[in-house]
Parts: sequence; structure tokens; C-alpha cells
Amino acid sequence: MEKIFIFDTTLRDGEQAPGASLNPSEKLEIAHVLADLGVDVIEAGFPISSLGDFNAVQKIAKSVKGPAICGLARAVKADIDAAYNAVKASSRPRIHVFLATSKIHMQYKLQKAEDEILRLAVEALRHARKYCRDVEFSPEDASRSDRFFLYKVVEAVIAQGATTVNIPDTVGYAEPQEFGSLIRDIKSNVPNIDDAIISVHCHNDLGLAVANSLEAIKSGARQVECTVNGIGERAGNASMEEIVMAIKTRRDIFKNIDTNIATSQIYRASRLVSKLTGFTVAPNKAIVGSNAFRHESGIHQDGVLKERSTYEIIKPEDVGFTGTSLVLGKHSGRHALKERLKELGLALNAEQLDKVNVRFKALADKKKDIFDDDLIAIVEDEIKTVKPVWKLVSFAIHSGTRVVPCAEIKLKYKNKDLCGVSSGDGPVDACFKAVDKITGIKGELQDYRIEAVTKGKDALGEVSLKLKAKSKIVTARGSSTDIVEASVRAYINALNKIEAL
Ligand code: KIV
Ligand code: ZN
Repeated sequence: MEKIFIFDTTLRDGEQAPGASLNPSEKLEIAHVLADLGVDVIEAGFPISSLGDFNAVQKIAKSVKGPAICGLARAVKADIDAAYNAVKASSRPRIHVFLATSKIHMQYKLQKAEDEILRLAVEALRHARKYCRDVEFSPEDASRSDRFFLYKVVEAVIAQGATTVNIPDTVGYAEPQEFGSLIRDIKSNVPNIDDAIISVHCHNDLGLAVANSLEAIKSGARQVECTVNGIGERAGNASMEEIVMAIKTRRDIFKNIDTNIATSQIYRASRLVSKLTGFTVAPNKAIVGSNAFRHESGIHQDGVLKERSTYEIIKPEDVGFTGTSLVLGKHSGRHALKERLKELGLALNAEQLDKVNVRFKALADKKKDIFDDDLIAIVEDEIKTVKPVWKLVSFAIHSGTRVVPCAEIKLKYKNKDLCGVSSGDGPVDACFKAVDKITGIKGELQDYRIEAVTKGKDALGEVSLKLKAKSKIVTARGSSTDIVEASVRAYINALNKIEAL
């Protein structure tokens, strides 16, 4: 098996996405998840760019074990010094030096001629190699650079000890066949190319970043630079999860090639990056979008329930996706409804299912998506809750800013008064825990809302909650002018429903 090294630049190029700034502790949290994911290199930042970034890279280098920790540097000594100082605490430090080689960048941005660029690249490499054995060089805007000059620069930096040469498609201009042939041409025109790993770094301006990266792998690249959720400058970078899953899913094309990625961690990493950057993932985004594994049409749902591979090329659990795969709507059939109810712990007999199905179809005509709460409400309505098993007799709480909240609850159960006491994270939590102690049922609260149902200071508060216990999920409400009492009533109502189902 040949390995493709995954160089993750979520914390550097990803963070360059407009509006995506992360503080040092957020960067550290993401870096730990990237290490769990099994990436080979974490590009943790651009240390010279700010003291905050320097500190973040240094923190990551000190505490994240496993991947190489890399800092970016322009081809100038001060940048390289800062990059090395930031990553040196890692057991696997890497310095990544970049310098543009395209005419357009050399003329307008750098105002330097080819000879000067070549000299600066060589000097930068020499300087970086004094610090570190692992040095990567990127001829920025390589895909728009003159081929012969590019070969010359790549050969020169390898001769100075560059261990990885990264070929960036900086502005996402390349097209897959063209980019693949650029990699093959570099392989056949740079005499010492086998002394370094060829890497690629593709941007997504034309939506081709992943396609270009895959083509480069087919042509001999052995490192890909990418980001979680494809975030990055402008239209972003190549998406890590798409590259990894394409290689894994199309083994027939990517023969004897694999990455180190623990794919079951992909969804977790995607959620975290989305949450901390504030960049929501489009529902239809490949691999990590909320719709990526959802089937709505009745024909598709029926097919998937009979044999998943009819409409699924990736198992959702392979990327750690745990949500439901069936979205119920007006196109859904009885089969899908039954399965979803089963997943919610609501096993109905045929007659009950028929009744629920009629109500479900009527609702689906009015509402596009039918959520779990809607289904639960229909079922509860159709299969009326039987006599309550537990009844609230009384409750007392002790709470405040300087005390640990504590609750005492009395419930009636089969004509007996049972008492439970517990502390908790607040008076409501303490009450719920005291109820759990009495009933012996461990409820998992999945949703909790409180609303004023009347106006004024003496408003009636209504608590609605969603509770999971004994593998069943129910919703319940409780109201009172005392919000703690409303909460306790809602919780006990939920438990009674669970007992009745
Ligand atoms: O897009 C680019 O060229 C870069 C380099 C620094 C590798 O991000
Ligand atoms: Zn980039």
C-alpha cells in the first residue's frame, strides 16, 4: 500500500477564509481533533503574522502529539526564525517556506526577476535547513508559472535539502487533466525529484480543487494539502473529507493507495470546525452536509431499507454520521414511517401504524419536512397516555449563588409516597436527578424549552421537553407559575409516557 500524506491546513489557509478567525484555545481544540483524525501534518499557522498566531502554533507544538507540526514562512530569515521558534517544541517540527514563481506574482507583487527569486529560494532553504530536517517549499502560483523556471526552482530547493515540494494551484485556475500532466512533467523534468515528496495544494475557485488533487495523486503526488469542510481563502481549499473518501470509496481507481485518516472521526471534526469558525456546512455538501446521507423520495427510501447500496455509496457510520438517514415528507411511504418510529423506540402494531400513517400523510400535505417531534406528537395523540404511574406530591429546592443546588421530591407511586434527594447543576437539574433516583429510570434530556404562556409577572410558564429513556423518545409539557415546578411536571409527564408506550 502506498501512503498519501494528509497535510491539513485548516488552521492556516482555512483560517485565512474571510471571517473565520479562531482564538488560540479554539485552534488547540481543533488541532487535537485533527490528531485524532490521523492527519500526518498540521499546518498550525503563520507564526510571523501575529503574536496570537505565534502563541497558538507554539501551544499546538507543545501539546499535540502524533502529526508533524508545521509553521508557514515567507522566504525571509525573520519569518523562518519565527516559524521554527513556534514549532520547535514539537517532536516533529516542519518549516514551510513559500515564494511565488509565476510571472504575474514576480512582476507585480514581488517586483523581482527570475534570478533573484531563485537566489532567495535557495537562501531560504539553506537557512531553514540549519534549524530543521523537515522543510517544505512551495513555489506559489506554480500552476501559472513558466514550466522551465518552475523545474529549475524545484530542482534547486531539493538540492538544498527540501524534503517536500508543494505545487500550489494558488488561484484555483488549473483543470484536472492539465494539473495531472504538470505533476507528471515535474516528475520527468526535475532530475532530483525522487529526493523529495511531491505535494499539491489546490484552491477551489472553479470548484475543481478536489478533482485536481485526485488527478495529481494519480500522477504521482504523495502529499495533499487540504482543509476540513474545504474552508480557506476565497472559495476555499480542497476538502479533506472529500479527498479521503474518494480514495477509500474508489479503490478500483486508487489501487494500493491509502491515507491514515480514521474516517469515523470526519463528522466530528467537521462539526467542530463549523462550530468554531461559524461557517455553516451547506446541507448538500458532499460527505459532511446534513443531507449527504438522507433520502427523501419514497422510491429511494424503500430501496435503501431493502439494500443500502442501492442509493448509498458510503456508509454514513464510516464517516461518523449518526443522524437519521430518512427524512420524512410527503414522498415517504409506510415502510419508512415504520422504520423511523422504530428508531425512536415506538414499536406500533399494524392497526396503530395505519392510524398514524393517515395523520402523517395529512400533515405532510401541509408541511414539507416531518420532524421527529411531529411524529412523536401524532403517536402520542393516537395512542393516548394511560393512567399516570408517577404523580408529583411536593417538591422543595435549596438554591442560590453560594450554595450547591439541592432538591427534595416526593412522588406518589401505587398509593405510596416515595422521596428522593439530589444535588445538581441548578435547581431544575437537581429535581430531575431526584426524580431519577425515585423512579430508577435514567432520563436523557434531548431538548428543553421554557415559554411564558400568559403575560405579566405572574405569567404561567410552560416547559416542553424531549426525553429519551428505555430506548424511547417522548415529548411532554408541564405548566405552573413556578418554572421549577413546571419543569418537574413536564419531566414526570414524560416518564409516564415512556412507561405507557
Ligand atoms: O495557496 C497557496 O499558494 C498557499 C501557499 C502558501 C502554499 O497557500
Ligand atoms: Zn493556499
